[in-house]
This record gives sequence, C-alpha cells and structure tokens, in this order.
Amino acid sequence: MLEHGGRIQQAAQRYGIPQEDWLDLSTGINPLGWPVPPLPPACWQRLPEPDDGLVEAASRYYGCNSLLVVAGSQAAIQALPSLRLPCRVGLLAPTYAEHAQAWARNGHRVAQFPLTEIEAMLDQLDVLVLVNPNNPTGQRVSAEMLRAWQHRLATRGGWLVVDEAFMDATPEHSLAPQVGAEGLVVLRSLGKFFGLAGARVGFVLAWPELLVQLSEALGPWTVAHPARYAARLALADATWQALARQRLLRDSARLAELLAHHALPPVGGTALFQQVECERALSVQNELAKMGILVRRFDAPPSLRFGLPGAEGEWQRLEAALKKI
Ligand SMILES: Cc1ncc(COP(=O)(O)O)c(C=O)c1O
Repeated sequence: MLEHGGRIQQAAQRYGIPQEDWLDLSTGINPLGWPVPPLPPACWQRLPEPDDGLVEAASRYYGCNSLLVVAGSQAAIQALPSLRLPCRVGLLAPTYAEHAQAWARNGHRVAQFPLTEIEAMLDQLDVLVLVNPNNPTGQRVSAEMLRAWQHRLATRGGWLVVDEAFMDATPEHSLAPQVGAEGLVVLRSLGKFFGLAGARVGFVLAWPELLVQLSEALGPWTVAHPARYAARLALADATWQALARQRLLRDSARLAELLAHHALPPVGGTALFQQVECERALSVQNELAKMGILVRRFDAPPSLRFGLPGAEGEWQRLEAALKKI
C-alpha cells in the first residue's frame, strides 16, 4: 500500500491530538468544496441508472463527449494497465506513485525519469503517463507538446495517458476537448477542485473502444447513486465553478507568499497546493504536527506539500505555526 495524505486518524493517535483539532493540509483537496445539498431518499434506495444526466453534465463541463464515469480516477489508474499486453511504460519522477505501481503490477516494464528526458526517451516507449500539472511538483507540460508526443506514440499504437486531477482551475491547458482519436486518455477527478474526494467520482476520457473495454472490466454500478447525483449537480454549477477558480488561484498565490515569507519558498505548485523542497522536511513536518497541522512529506528530494487552508482562522493558525518554527 502506498502512502497518501489525509490520514488524520493516524496523526491523531501518533501525536495525541483529537481528530477535530487538526488542520489537514496534507492533501490537494479544495477545503471549501462544492456544497452538497440534502439528497433525495431514492438516491439511497434505487440503483443508479446510466441515463441520469451525469454523462451529459460531464460532457459539457469537460468539453468532450467520449467519457466514462468511474469510482474516482484511482479506479481507472488501476484498471487501464490491464487493457494492454506487457509493454514499455514511461512516467515522470517524482509523480503520483499509484500510476507506476499499477503498470508494474500488470507486468509492464516501467521507467521513471525527469521531464527534461522525455523527448529523448519517447521512441523507446509504448505508453507515456503524465500527471499534468504534476503532483507533487506542480510542473506543467503545454498542450502542444503533449499533442506532439501523443502523435509520435500513436503512429506505433502507443498511448499517452494524462492525469488531469489538478487541472480544473486552469481548464485552458486541458487536453480534454481534444480526446476522441485512438491513443489519448485523459483522467479527471471530482476529488480535488470540487472537494468531493469522499464521493469517489472520476472520469476517463478516451476513444470509444477503450471506454467499452474499461467499462466491461469495471462492471455495472461502479459509482454509487448518491455520488452520481451530487456529481451531476456539481458539474452543472457553472457559477460555483467560476468563483472557486478565482478563489483557489488567489489562495494558492497567498500560500506561496506566506511560505516564502517564512523561509520556505515553494519550488512549484498548482491552484490546490504548494511544494517546498527543504533538507529539514522531516523536522518541519514533525514540528507542525505537534501543533496539529498535518502536511505531506516526500523523500526524493526531501520536500513538503502544503494544501490550502480554508477559513481565515486556518490561515492565521498556519502563519502562527510557521513563525514558531
Ligand atoms: C494525481 C492524482 N491522480 C489521481 C488521484 C486519485 O484521485 P481520485 O481517485 O480521488 O479521483 C490522486 C489522489 O490524490 C492524485 O493526486
């Protein structure tokens, strides 16, 4: 099992601080997510139906009508590698670790390298998997560059898989509207920007034959009725989306400034987190945790990822803690 952010119960036990007293900045989840309304009882009582309007809402939101709803993009990350015979797969280093693990588990030969080496490595790969913008570094590759790589791969029957879990605040950089032809797969999540991580809803955008194979591999009713209901409303709420985009971009810049001001200048980030490289990562994480603030640590290179505080009181709390360390 790989490590993930959001393990508040574990932190509560380890540091002897009650769960409700923690400020959890260990994930890239919007702390002021889409407000879920009370759900009709039928959501709990009836099986979800495929023609409930969710696919149409998602098609409009992503600008793509070849998509499949999945139980979080994680479900697709795990299932996709089983749809290809063993081949050569390239990924960034560092990146969201579940991708490499899933491809390796399915017998593929996995190589990881920095962004600067992709161009040179591409002709030796059958599948290139990128998280764009990358988690945890925030590095972003332009849509033009990705399209060029995808064409090179597709001429040999190869795939480009782009995980856009953190793309919602900058939709102008998304490849979603370009999906349709064989060889391009885009993964999206409702867990980050919409803050609906617990609902477990994501989408795979790809050419129709791949979606049929994936759908058969995953089976019926993979996404629960309450989750489908909330996801449909969230995807259609353009007013909330526009405000959230503005606020997240502003708050992420505020977080970068706050960290820089306390000798932790970020090396990268997205609208939903900032990444700080520092040799003292372990001790800074520990000092913050003693004050009930949870951040995510990475080892190679030693770094910390800070998610966004939500309410003003949380910003003050982070600032006070940073001052002390
Ligand atoms: C880059 C990236 N992709 C995918 C996921 C999985 O998200 P979900 O399964 O909630 O859609 C995560 C979760 O942290 C992530 O960071």
